Amino acid sequence: MEMPQQPCQGPQEGGQAPLYKIISLTHSYETAGERIQVLQDITMQIEQQETLAIVGASGSGKSSLLHLLGTLANANQGTIYFEGIDIAALSAGEKALLRNRDIGFVFQYHYMLPEFTTLENVAMPALVGGVPRRQAYEKAGALLEQVGLTHRANYNVTLLSGGERQRAAIARAVLNGPKVLLADEPTGNLDATTGQKIIDLLLELNQRHKMAMVVVTHNMELAAQMGRCLELKSGDLYDQTR
Ligand SMILES: Nc1ncnc2c1ncn2[C@@H]1O[C@H](COP(=O)(O)OP(=O)(O)OP(=O)(O)O)[C@@H](O)[C@H]1O
Ligand SMILES: [Mg+2]
Repeated sequence: MEMPQQPCQGPQEGGQAPLYKIISLTHSYETAGERIQVLQDITMQIEQQETLAIVGASGSGKSSLLHLLGTLANANQGTIYFEGIDIAALSAGEKALLRNRDIGFVFQYHYMLPEFTTLENVAMPALVGGVPRRQAYEKAGALLEQVGLTHRANYNVTLLSGGERQRAAIARAVLNGPKVLLADEPTGNLDATTGQKIIDLLLELNQRHKMAMVVVTHNMELAAQMGRCLELKSGDLYDQTR
């Protein structure tokens, strides 16, 4: 059944406090005198442990929205509350701490440190967070096993295939046990079988680590397996959950 198209207001109130509460979020870019309106008055919330897909045409603003949720940029207008905290009110240091502890990010172009091994890359968020080296490597090793990359732990990360790199990026993002995983095209450029393996991995991590998941994607197979699916169109979100 087709859902009626309405700007999404998020699930009903009740139960646990929401993970994110987003109020009148508006964002635009200004380049060479031209103003590009990307997000227009978005109000919604994201629940603890929910799985959410955000779909939409190329250039519709999906990555921009994810960056705002990840505290990597500041919105022009509106407020994003993360567990009741207005993230715009945080200092740069406080944002970095929040990202390190509570927000795992898988970038559209997953950045790995090329001079390090897979294990070292995955362990990095724990090392940055002050965890002793041995403990960080143990944690990273356990996660590499979960994502099926034990045999590539000591490879230089540049030698990994696209799908392997994607899995390493996911392992790194969940290393510190975040409350939310923000993933930008986690199955981009992968064949259908490898893509489904990544989807299974994400769903397993969601269950095992009880973390929420916001996945930006063009992959409708992936979107259909998330609990809720929102389409970003003309700056606003429309519920397309089937
Ligand atoms: N820093 C920036 N400065 C100026 N314009 C930008 C900037 N970042 C993004 N844009 C523009 O904003 C629009 C939204 O970009 P965004 O990357 O959020 O789209 P997207 O939905 O993720 O697209 P895709 O599916 O292709 O990844 C695009 O038109 C893009 O060119
Ligand atoms: Mg994008």
